This record gives sequence, C-alpha cells and structure tokens, in this order.
Amino acid sequence: MKRIGIMTTGGDCSGLNTVIQRIYRAASLRGWQVIGILDGTDGLSSAPPQFIKFDKDTLPIENARLAGSFLHNGRANALNFETAIERGKVEQFNNKLRKSLSELKLDALILIGGNGSISLAWCNKEIYAGLQLICIPKTIDMDIPLTDKTIGFNTAVQQLTTFCDQLMLTARSHHRWFVVQTMGRDCGQLALNAGIAIGANAILIPEIKFDINSLISHIKGADSDYGIILVSEGISLRGHSGRPADMISRKLTAAGIVNRPAFPEHTQRVGDTTAADRILATRMADCAVNAIENNETYVMTAIKDCKCTTVGLNEFFNAGEITNDPRIPGVKTSDAYVSPDDPLLQIAVDMGIYIGETK
Ligand code: F6P
Repeated sequence: MKRIGIMTTGGDCSGLNTVIQRIYRAASLRGWQVIGILDGTDGLSSAPPQFIKFDKDTLPIENARLAGSFLHNGRANALNFETAIERGKVEQFNNKLRKSLSELKLDALILIGGNGSISLAWCNKEIYAGLQLICIPKTIDMDIPLTDKTIGFNTAVQQLTTFCDQLMLTARSHHRWFVVQTMGRDCGQLALNAGIAIGANAILIPEIKFDINSLISHIKGADSDYGIILVSEGISLRGHSGRPADMISRKLTAAGIVNRPAFPEHTQRVGDTTAADRILATRMADCAVNAIENNETYVMTAIKDCKCTTVGLNEFFNAGEITNDPRIPGVKTSDAYVSPDDPLLQIAVDMGIYIGETK
C-alpha cells in the first residue's frame, strides 16, 4: 500500500478541488492512503506538518466543482521558497521541509501548482529526493510551458465571458465603451481567448506592441458606438503608470470616446468549474496516479497533441526560461506565451478586432 500526499500551492483557481477529489478516488480504489497537506509549503514546513486524512466524507463528489482549494493555498505572509529567500531563511526553511517529509513517510507527493511553484520545486529538488514528486499544472494565466492546457484557465475564460456579456448590455444602453482589465501577469492567453469569445473590439496583450492612436482610430471607425476593449494586466503604456485599464480609459476619454474602466479581478479565479476544466482535472489526476504507479518522479502532467502525458521537470524548467523573442524586439516571451504564429491572432484580425501592431 502506498501513502501519498496532495498539496496546492500558489494562487487558487477553479478545478483544484476537482483534481484533489479525482486523485483521492483513483488512489483509494488502488487501496492507497491519501493525505492532504494544508496551506502548501507553509503547512508542510510547520512543526508538526499540517495535514488532513481524506475519506469519502471529507471529499463529497458534489463539492468537487467548487472554486478555491479544500487544502488552502497558504496565507499572504506564508513561508514558502520565495519568501524564505527574501527573509534570508532558506536553509532553515529547507530543513523544516526535510524534517516534515521524513515524518510524514510519504511514498509520493502530488504538487498542484503554477509556474513559480513547479520551478521552485525543481530548483529545490533534493528536498523531495526520498519520494516521488509529481506536479500538476494549474493557473488561469496559461503561462506554463510544455502543456497545451492548465487547470483553471477554461473557467477563467468563462468567468470573463460572463462578466463582459453583462457589461455589453449596459454599454449598449449608454452608447459607451468598457475597458476591461484581465489578469494573466505577463502572458496574454487569458485576454486573447476571452476577447475572441466575447467578440471584443480590441484586445491588448503584453506579447504584441500596440499604438494608442491606432486603437483610438479603430474605435472611432467602428460600426458601433459601444463594445469592449479587453486589456491584459501585463501591458504598459510608455510614460504612464497605474492600472492599464485606467491608462487606456483616460486616453480614450481625452480623444472623446465615452468609456468606463472595469475590473473583474479575482472573480476570474472563482467560477463554478466548467465541464472542460473538470475533464482536464480528471485526466491530469489519472495521469498523476499512473505516474506514481509507474515509479516516475520529478515529472509534470501535461496535455500534448490532445494526449495527457508526463514531461520531465528538467525539460519544463528549460522550456520556461523567459527570453527575448528575436521576432519581437524588446518583448519577453516563453514557450507558453502567445506566439506571433498563434492562429487566434489572425482570426482576431479577420474579425476586425484591433490586436496591436502585428505587421
Ligand atoms: O497567477 C494567477 C494570478 O491570478 C495572476 O493572474 C494575477 O496577477 C495574480 O495571480 C494575482 O495575485 P493575488 O491573488 O496575490 O492578488
């Protein structure tokens, strides 16, 4: 019988509870014992380590759709690999993790995390040397290399779509525009996909430079006097500071375009998990449990060519390096960011959406 641990780290998103519940189910059907570590590495580094034992009553199937994490993702001030570096407490923190892991006597640990958490786990890999470490990628940013999908992204696109659909009605009533700011950090996937879904008039993403005057001309020349301009939180406007949606909104107002900025903020992370995200979570949970059975370690589950598989964390780490893309001078990119060849960009252009200076 194996004893496995599950831990959620980094920002929350929809689909975490689905993947936890599905791992528990697949593992318990094999007769394995499953524990859930509370509050990510913060709970793991506590003395004693904070965890709960799962049984069928702690993980009711009807709750698997809920956003957030049953295991929590850690407090704002939590001790994790990043804050330990900032506080000069790396060795102390690493020792606590080693001690907890040896106390917990796990055969395997499934870490459900984003880019940062998975990279840091790989950089500190010797801590997990005594067990099998399997990572599952989750993030609404979809900025994780070597996987075509991440848990939580589809629900975030749906949340933004619902938010913008509603704004569109008031925009129409008042003949005005809304400048909606999406999350996504430096990656434009969320804004691009949601923008296509809602039929935005313009989508501004960090990977593509835009010209404010071209945007203004595009909106003034539109065949409608209302609509949505979707801007990713990672864009910047030379000589301006503050929230991107506010900056763009002010520029549009100065040009005589009636508009309001709008901020869906963390509602992007809390929708009832979509069917697509639940299926993805189930596939990744199944893949992770199979990887444990096959004695794999230091791997991440990934979707490639429609198949769910595992990739080595070393490969993941190298592919995730943020480099300057020679095709777009001055713009940072990685394998997971929106590439200039992304078919959605041409589709946006074909649909009359201003997407920046693509030529
Ligand atoms: O990485 C997920 C994410 O939601 C980003 O899109 C966003 O910039 C950030 O986390 C927000 O973090 P916090 O919850 O700390 O405000």
